[in-house]
Amino acid sequence: MRIILLGPPGCGKGTQSKRLEVAKGLLQLSTGDMLRAAAEAGSELGLKAKAIMDGGNLVADEVVVAIIGERLDQLDPDQGIVLDGFPRNVAQAEALDNLLKSRGQNLDAVIELKVDDEALVKRVTGRFKCDTCGQGYHDEFEQPQVSGVCDKCGGTSFSRRKDDTAETVLNRLEVYYGETRPVIAYYGEKGILSSVDGMADIDEVTKQINEVLEAN
Ligand code: AP5
Ligand code: MG
Repeated sequence: MRIILLGPPGCGKGTQSKRLEVAKGLLQLSTGDMLRAAAEAGSELGLKAKAIMDGGNLVADEVVVAIIGERLDQLDPDQGIVLDGFPRNVAQAEALDNLLKSRGQNLDAVIELKVDDEALVKRVTGRFKCDTCGQGYHDEFEQPQVSGVCDKCGGTSFSRRKDDTAETVLNRLEVYYGETRPVIAYYGEKGILSSVDGMADIDEVTKQINEVLEAN
């Protein structure tokens, strides 16, 4: 199964992709995570991408398309995938069509997570994670049981994404509405788009996604 989770910053793409990895054996392909890893590794490409990401703008299409193409090449063709954060504009969606076509593959579903702007800003600006195991937390919605200590691994160092400030989130939303939203119409015309209520609680969103996948 090959699917895309589509939606604005903070809509829950990463959260739900990780659940799909566990429940359905899909592999999460997050271009944001890949670019952050490249930035952390300090490669030239990663450092260039970091400056763009920190401002909330999109990294060049050829860079992200090449990253996804390389990952697809490394995978067993039968490995199911969930694309998180890619494609982010119509040119990337067309490039993905070509990548899949050249491998004799197709997309099974594109699922849009719909969330109000106000909720998105709150979700993103309150988010932090454990530096040791990556477990995600939120200032308001999901604090560690003992303040300053990770529930999962006992780690005591936490960090926030540099692009999660209130100002940068507003730019990321603007970029989303200008560049990424047309991708929804692109898949709508292909007849493979479904929408779920991303304002619902996390378990309910998972349930709605499963219903879409089971109907496929
Ligand atoms: P990327 O990493 O993809 O970030 P994003 O799209 O802005 O989305 P987020 O990761 O912030 O949110 P999410 O939807 O994953 O939500 P999450 O599950 O974490 O991209 C970052 C940057 O990289 C881009 O700005 C760009 O520069 C670059 N980039 C990446 N891909 C690119 C591409 N293809 N082309 C060009 N540039 C690219 O949830 C958020 C929070 O909400 C968490 O705290 C979570 O616990 C909470 N939450 C989740 N679901 C719920 C719920 N139902 N109810 C309450 N809280 C919830
Ligand atoms: Mg994410």
